[in-house]
Amino acid sequence: MKHLYRQGAAPSAPTLLLLHGTGGTEHDLLKLAEMIAPEAGVLSVRGNVLENGMPRFFRRLAEGVFDIEDLIFRTKELYDFVDAAAERYGFDRRNVVAVGYSNGANIAGSLLFHYKDALKGAVLHHPMVPIRGVKLPDLSGVPVFVGAGVNDPICSPQETEELNKLLAAAGAEVELHWGNRGHQLTGDEVEAAKAWYASRFGR
Ligand code: MLT
Repeated sequence: MKHLYRQGAAPSAPTLLLLHGTGGTEHDLLKLAEMIAPEAGVLSVRGNVLENGMPRFFRRLAEGVFDIEDLIFRTKELYDFVDAAAERYGFDRRNVVAVGYSNGANIAGSLLFHYKDALKGAVLHHPMVPIRGVKLPDLSGVPVFVGAGVNDPICSPQETEELNKLLAAAGAEVELHWGNRGHQLTGDEVEAAKAWYASRFGR
């Protein structure tokens, strides 16, 4: 997968797996990563699917309607890619924290829904429920930050609550942050993610 890797300043710090929104690239979330965890390494990936020229991490049939077969295929593709990248660059595969926005948050959510050991934690900015009707792995103690907007036209508050319940039922420690805006990433939400990250992964 197209990507960029930067080694972290602190060897014990997590590697952030950066996952952009629809139409983004591997460059989009570098500033966000810098704000949340400046000492962390970064593996930033570009989605392999193109929708009218816009990179995404999996296909959709319409806005908010996912191509589930492709989602499952792409989730495994990303999982395998992170394994291979850890070998290639020599970072600790068990110390990877995803930071995703929108479509990127949805594939990060799908990693959590499908694999027990994919992520040590996750920052999900405006995620949806990636897939329904699957049994989640044991996510005991996996910390997850969810940033949501009360007026998000793409992800309703009900869907955010549903996601929260599914993750919590699998044992994840979910912190939900509500902003009073829509689907966009706000400064408040970034501040909340940064404080959450420091409390979970800071030294
Ligand atoms: C998705 O397709 O993953 C969601 O609708 C969010 C987005 O627009 O990317």
